[in-house]
Amino acid sequence: MTADSIGAATASAAGDTQMSDDRSDDRSDDRVQFSVEELLTSGEYTEPLVANGVRCHGGFDADGVYFSPRVVHRAPAIKAWQHQLQREGHELIEIPSDLMPPPHPNVAQAKLLLQNDVRDPIVRALTIISIVEGFGAMIRDVEVPDLASLLVEPFEGTALAHLTSGLFEAHARDESGYREEGGHKQMWEAARDAALENPKIPGDVLMRLMSGRGRSQRPAPAFPQIAPQLERMLGFMANVLVVEVFATGTFRWGIELLSDPEVSAAPEEAGGMVRNIEADEKPHVDYLRTALSEVRARTIRTTDGKEIAGSVVVDALLHRVLHQMTRNRRRDQQEDLR
Ligand SMILES: [Fe+2]
Ligand SMILES: [Fe+2]
Repeated sequence: MTADSIGAATASAAGDTQMSDDRSDDRSDDRVQFSVEELLTSGEYTEPLVANGVRCHGGFDADGVYFSPRVVHRAPAIKAWQHQLQREGHELIEIPSDLMPPPHPNVAQAKLLLQNDVRDPIVRALTIISIVEGFGAMIRDVEVPDLASLLVEPFEGTALAHLTSGLFEAHARDESGYREEGGHKQMWEAARDAALENPKIPGDVLMRLMSGRGRSQRPAPAFPQIAPQLERMLGFMANVLVVEVFATGTFRWGIELLSDPEVSAAPEEAGGMVRNIEADEKPHVDYLRTALSEVRARTIRTTDGKEIAGSVVVDALLHRVLHQMTRNRRRDQQEDLR
């Protein structure tokens, strides 16, 4: 895959999500500055989301439509930043979701296992998903360097300027919950426990996940001439973006399997829960691809006083992640299953 094909790919990274954008009371397209409080505001719901006895984030309006948490201002903000970027003549990164390897076991295989009372692999697969969702909270610990000194062009009023003032924190809360509210980690657990009737969770899932895949290895710098902190931040964001886009396949899998009354004890509750999680992912994909596109549209200062196009750096980091994930993901899932 070439750098061009990332930019020109037509498949929508944000496809097929629900109406989590529509909860905005701020339609103005030109406002590009938002406070932390605004980006973290959820507004009021008619009814909270409770799953398997767990109070989760988000909620329903009077018509029973689910709305994601923290999108009242975040959704229009992201749209405004995207429009601004496009008005300035820059493209928005699209990761083709058809690069995504199919989930293993697939829905038919998973169903066959459950029908034959082989539940452990599916309980493990769902538990791994919930743990990985919880890992999303790490995004709030990403070190953001002094971008003003590292980027040639200004970036006020961009997604980039709001990473540490609301965007990373909102993302972290969505994934792992906040205070008494469950996030995606707890929502996947609730879906699993409702569908499979509170199965016994193997005690070694987390340990195997941490030790098995060798993912913790930090890659050698691809651009030794730029500030290492900047490359780490961009690499982390590229990685999370691809994970979020590829998660689409996991959601389809989860919705189909857990909505199937032949194998799910709570087809509506569990399937609906995964749909709600899927809707919540849209702002994650959107702010990450916006901020990375904003870097692509700028110039990075190197540590030796020269310059390099942001597009060269961002595209290379995205390639590295896509290359690794398209190659390793299926093997990782097969190993997890075994
Ligand atoms: Fe998530
Ligand atoms: Fe996410």
